[in-house]
Amino acid sequence: MKKKIKSFLALSSGAAFIFSLFVAFTSPQEPWEVPAKYKTMENEYPGEDVDGIGEELYKKHCRSCHGKEGYGDGNKAAELETEMRDLTLEEVLEQTDGELYYKSFIGRDEMPNFEKKIGDEEDRWMVINYIRTLE
Ligand code: HEC
Repeated sequence: MKKKIKSFLALSSGAAFIFSLFVAFTSPQEPWEVPAKYKTMENEYPGEDVDGIGEELYKKHCRSCHGKEGYGDGNKAAELETEMRDLTLEEVLEQTDGELYYKSFIGRDEMPNFEKKIGDEEDRWMVINYIRTLE
């Protein structure tokens, strides 16, 4: 009987260890606080992706990680340590334009900063507008 208990304990601590590894590698994103001044930032070009500029820039700069449809399944996604949220999820889209702007162009950690690569203010908003059309 004692033996059984021992092996049960050994097995369950092994399982707990494996489980904690699993959790560590697939853990959800850390909360991402966006500074107030960005949160309420106004999109001066709401709703439209004029001449497909946003789509073009998305394909050029974002698709490699976020994937063609924004699902987080781009070629580079597997190399990243951070889990990416599907950009078409309600919890992503319910953020303000300013929050999406901050995350998209200031970034953090593995989400690169795009202030230089996408320097034009109107172009940036076109990218945000385009993200909102992904489904
Ligand atoms: C090198 C890979 C990579 C590229 C390229 C990239 N991203 Fe990201 N992106 C990430 C990662 C990783 C995260 C998650 C970051 C985190 O939570 O710390 C992220 C998060 C985001 C988020 C936040 C989503 C949420 O969970 O609220 C937005 C918005 C976003 N990216 C937009 C963009 C846009 C727009 C571009 C192109 C201009 C882009 N990303 C290019 C890797 C990338």
